[in-house]
Amino acid sequence: MGRKKISIIGAGFVGATAAHWAAAKELGDIVLVDILEGIPQGKALDLFESAPIEGFDSNVIGTNTYEATKGSDIVIITSGVPRKPGMSREDLLDINRKIIESVVAEVTAKSPNAILIMVTNPLDTMTYLAIKKSGLPRERVMGMAGVLDTARYRAFIAMELGVSVEDIQALLLGGHGDEMVPLPRYTTVSGIPLSQLLPKEKIDKLVDRARKGGGEIVNLLKTGSAFYAPSAGAIQMAEAILKDKKRILPCCVYLNGEYGLKDICFGVPVKLGEKGVESIIELDLTEEEKCLVAKSAESVKKSILELKL
Ligand code: NAI
Ligand code: 2OP
Repeated sequence: MGRKKISIIGAGFVGATAAHWAAAKELGDIVLVDILEGIPQGKALDLFESAPIEGFDSNVIGTNTYEATKGSDIVIITSGVPRKPGMSREDLLDINRKIIESVVAEVTAKSPNAILIMVTNPLDTMTYLAIKKSGLPRERVMGMAGVLDTARYRAFIAMELGVSVEDIQALLLGGHGDEMVPLPRYTTVSGIPLSQLLPKEKIDKLVDRARKGGGEIVNLLKTGSAFYAPSAGAIQMAEAILKDKKRILPCCVYLNGEYGLKDICFGVPVKLGEKGVESIIELDLTEEEKCLVAKSAESVKKSILELKL
């Protein structure tokens, strides 16, 4: 069995950093694609030149065409424009949809058996677009958002409690917007329910900060959006698939009746393995949680309708 091939489309902040995490974890050979001449080539060469120091055996190629992506096992799509202060993820829809349509066509022509991990915003809508344009089964097209959003939520809880991030287990549902639904009822610290360690008001504040976590970074950076945690999230999903780990992670997937939702891409817990999305896990929700999920789904549906597919 040869090495796996991971293609990353868009060699900007998220794409290049994803290549870095993937190489450091030696997940396979990496192809970085971008329309900017020299950028993917330069970043790929620079990354490969770190291999003798870090000791990873992953080839890293940078290119402006899709030839080298042929036969990819996984394609991570980050091409597109990020938001700036004052912009919502939805403001990116018109410009990014054109990019995603052309990229998905190129990628699937060269790698018909690949699993696609979408990152470009607005995430749920771009994942829906990728499914519809590629005609791929829903098991093989998914979006990265929940892993990032729960990571933020877990990081804030760890900071508040002064404990290891490793011990915070959490779940979150919903679209990748400010109406996402972190679930304190499904949050534990080494098995201890969060509600036994923090008062409700504190938990509410952490939930609110997690919801607005993307905007917090945009307001600090001013010229773009987050990239370390987003790229780590995409690579965690890729690793789960490439190593057939059967991890349970919140991912944006196409729903066909689950959670009472149809014809929408939405964040829910799934099992990730070599086939991609191997199952969708349906949680028991309280009436309040159901209302929050419905509200988030409404925003995602509105955005999907703007695609006028
Ligand atoms: P960036 O601007 O640093 O990189 C985007 C890259 O895409 C640029 O290098 C650009 O040249 C390239 N590109 C544009 N059109 C292309 C095409 N047709 N083919 C190939 N490459 C093309 O942006 P960054 O920070 O890497 O973000 C990328 C996207 O990811 C944005 O849409 C951003 O909103 C989204 N994002 C999503 C997250 C999530 O949780 N799902 C988290 C962070 C970012
Ligand atoms: C984030 O949540 C901008 O979607 C990106 O950081």
